[in-house]
Amino acid sequence: DYGRRQRLLDAHKVAEEFFQSQLRDRRAVTAQRFLAGRGFDPAAAAKFGVGYAPQGWDALLKHLTAKGFTREELQSTGMFSEGQRGIYDRFRGRLMWPIRDLTGATIGFGARKLFEDDKGPKYLNTPETQLYKKSQVLYGVDLAKRAITKNRELVVVEGYTDVMACHLSGIETAVATCGTAFGTDHIKIVRRLLSDDGTGGSVIFTFDGDAAGQKAALRAFDEDQRFLAQTYVAVEPNGLDPCDLRQERGALAVRELIDSKRPLFEFAIKVSLKKYDLDTVEGRVNALRAAAPIVAAIRDHAMRPAYARELASWLGMDLNEVNRAVHLAAQQPAK
Ligand code: GTP
Ligand code: MN
Ligand code: MN
Ligand code: MN
Ligand code: MN
Repeated sequence: DYGRRQRLLDAHKVAEEFFQSQLRDRRAVTAQRFLAGRGFDPAAAAKFGVGYAPQGWDALLKHLTAKGFTREELQSTGMFSEGQRGIYDRFRGRLMWPIRDLTGATIGFGARKLFEDDKGPKYLNTPETQLYKKSQVLYGVDLAKRAITKNRELVVVEGYTDVMACHLSGIETAVATCGTAFGTDHIKIVRRLLSDDGTGGSVIFTFDGDAAGQKAALRAFDEDQRFLAQTYVAVEPNGLDPCDLRQERGALAVRELIDSKRPLFEFAIKVSLKKYDLDTVEGRVNALRAAAPIVAAIRDHAMRPAYARELASWLGMDLNEVNRAVHLAAQQPAK
C-alpha cells in the first residue's frame, strides 16, 4: 500500500544520504581513491549520488533504527541480511551506487567491493523487494530519460561506471541493467521511452567485446524483431568498456565508440563468421553453414534478402548458394 511504499522509499533516501556522508569520511580513503582512479571527481560522484558503506556489521542498522524505522521495515528494504543473532548490514566496505526509478527515487543499491580479496562477489545488489525488481531496473534512467526521448536514442552499457563515463563524455542517453541480462521487461520500458507509439528510435548496445558480451547481443535475437530492426552494437576492438575508454583515451573516444555502431544483424552475422578462414573453400562453406541460421532468423521481409546479399559478398560466394543455405536453415528447427 501507499504508506508502506513511502516508508521504504524514505528508508532508501536516508540510507543513500548516510552512504554519501560516509564517503566524505577519511576512513573512506580507499573508496575515494577508487573513484579518482576511475576518473570520477567528487562532483561526478555527487551527480550520481555515489556513497560508501563502511566496514562493520551495524553502521546502517544503527543509523536507520535511530531514525525510527522498525525492524520489520528494515528487513523489507533488502539492505540487511539475516543471521542467527538478528539482522546486519548487507553492504559493508563497498562503494554504493543508488539505483533510481524513472522519477529519481532511490529503490535499491549496487555495491562494489574495493579489494580483490574481499569476500563476496565483485558487485552485490539489492535483492528483489517490494520496490526493486531487477528485470525492470535500468540504472541511470532518471538522468537519461529526457535525452532518450529527445534524441530517440538509447545506449545500453554494462555497468554503473560505464553509465557515469558515458554521461560525463556527453552520451546522456546511457543506461545499464543491474547485474542481470537485458530482457523482455527492459525492452518494454525502452520502447515507451523512445516513443509513444513504440516504433521510433534506435537502441545501441556496447559490450566488453568478451564472450559474455557477444552472447548477450545474440540473446537479443530471441526477442521481438520489431525491436531488433532498430538495434545496434558498438564494440571497442581492444575490449575496453566506456569507463576504461574515457580514462585511457578521453571523452571523444567514448563518443567515437558510440558513433561506430553497426546494426545488430550485421554484428551477429560477422561474429558467426569470425572463427573461419575465409581464404579457403572449406572455411567459406563452414562459415556459410554457421551464418545461414542467423539470416534465416531475420523475419523482416525486406531485411532478410538484403542480408543474404551482404553475406554473399562477405563470403565472396554466389547469392544462389547463400539463398539455398538460408532456405535450408529456415527449415531446420532452431537450435
Ligand atoms: P569494474 O569496471 O572494475 O567495476 O569492472 P568491469 O568493467 O570488469 O565490470 P563488468 O564489465 O564485469 O561488470 C559490469 C556490470 O556487471 C557491473 O556494473 C554489475 O552490474 C555487473 N556485475 C559484474 N560483476 C558482478 C557480480 O559479481 N555480481 C553481480 N550481481 N553483478 C555483477
Ligand atoms: Mn564483461
Ligand atoms: Mn569484468
Ligand atoms: Mn566492464
Ligand atoms: Mn569497467
